[in-house]
Amino acid sequence: METRIYDVSRMDEAALAHIAEAAEVIRRGGLVAFPTETVYGLGADAFNEKAVAAIYEAKGRPSDNPLICHIARASDLGQLTPRLSEEIVKLADNFWPGPLTMVLEKKPAVPDRTTGGLSTVAVRMPDHPAALELIRRADCPIAAPSANLSGRPSPTTGRHVIADLNGRVDVILTAEDCRVGIESTVLDLSGERPLVLRPGILTPEMLGVCLSRPVEFDPGVVAQTCVHAEDLEKEGFLPGQVDAPKSPGMKYKHYAPKAEMIVLEGQKDRVREEAERLARVNEALGRRVGILFFEEQAFVEAAHDFFARLRDMDEAGVDLILAAALSDKDQVGFAVMNRMLKSAGYHIVSVK
Ligand code: TXA
Ligand code: MG
Repeated sequence: METRIYDVSRMDEAALAHIAEAAEVIRRGGLVAFPTETVYGLGADAFNEKAVAAIYEAKGRPSDNPLICHIARASDLGQLTPRLSEEIVKLADNFWPGPLTMVLEKKPAVPDRTTGGLSTVAVRMPDHPAALELIRRADCPIAAPSANLSGRPSPTTGRHVIADLNGRVDVILTAEDCRVGIESTVLDLSGERPLVLRPGILTPEMLGVCLSRPVEFDPGVVAQTCVHAEDLEKEGFLPGQVDAPKSPGMKYKHYAPKAEMIVLEGQKDRVREEAERLARVNEALGRRVGILFFEEQAFVEAAHDFFARLRDMDEAGVDLILAAALSDKDQVGFAVMNRMLKSAGYHIVSVK
């Protein structure tokens, strides 16, 4: 298929015309990749089952992994969920448009295809003018996963999207690089306690302040993000027993660079020495080595750069990525570590 690629970063008249054209594609059941503040999304009409099926096809994504429905006005929530609580309204007021996805009870009209057969629906209002214009013009909620091929690092630049999806979708809208760099925080409000199913730049602490009650990580997410086995036991997990996370998307192999990747954890100077030693040994064997270190405490910057750095290393033909673990005591550090450990297939080396 021929993909039309338009730069809409300036939001001028030409860009608005391209967005209108893309919205028409959505209305007719086609696929449009578009920028958001977190990562690029691959969108289709959330109420059109065939169009949603085409998303899975284009991405090569397992079809039980539910999609997020993107809206442009909080009043559109009523199309997706039957009941609005005070808490939902408060969160929408405080954090939308922005990198917060709420998991809510679903209306029967939302197709099972969109929600992977769940009784809940995930909803978010992205903070990006091109995304909001596209949704308004399409006049329907847009179901969109990240615009990467399944298993690849999430796309944070137009170039990444073109590399993965050119020829597989109808339209790609490109703009400036994504501001946040990791996907939205997924907050489950369908149960008794609000639980974060996917960590992001909006932290449980910030959400808890808004709701005036504690918000915690889903235990499955904590288990997935633990660097130390001892921490897992402290969280009440038996060795070897890790609960399946509630968010179906969290169970798949994710974000994987082409290179082998190892996360080194321990005291900072020792980690650096060990990375240099491993780099020397591997380079002597003819392997190309990439080092992935972030400034200490610069968690927001790490989130911004993480996926792009993985893709850069793939492009440079790196065979082995040596990454230094960030502190997971910081909630944004934790969000980056959640992705880093998955990218490395949980290959962690503790440096003594
Ligand atoms: O920032 C983002 O959220 C980006 C941009 C494009 O908005 N989207 C994104 O979508 O990351 P995706 O499909 O890659 O991730 C959606 C996540 C998955 O982990 C999925 O399992 C979870 O949200 N999810 C969706 N619907 C859910 C539901 N009803 N219950 C629990 N988890 C759900
Ligand atoms: Mg994704």
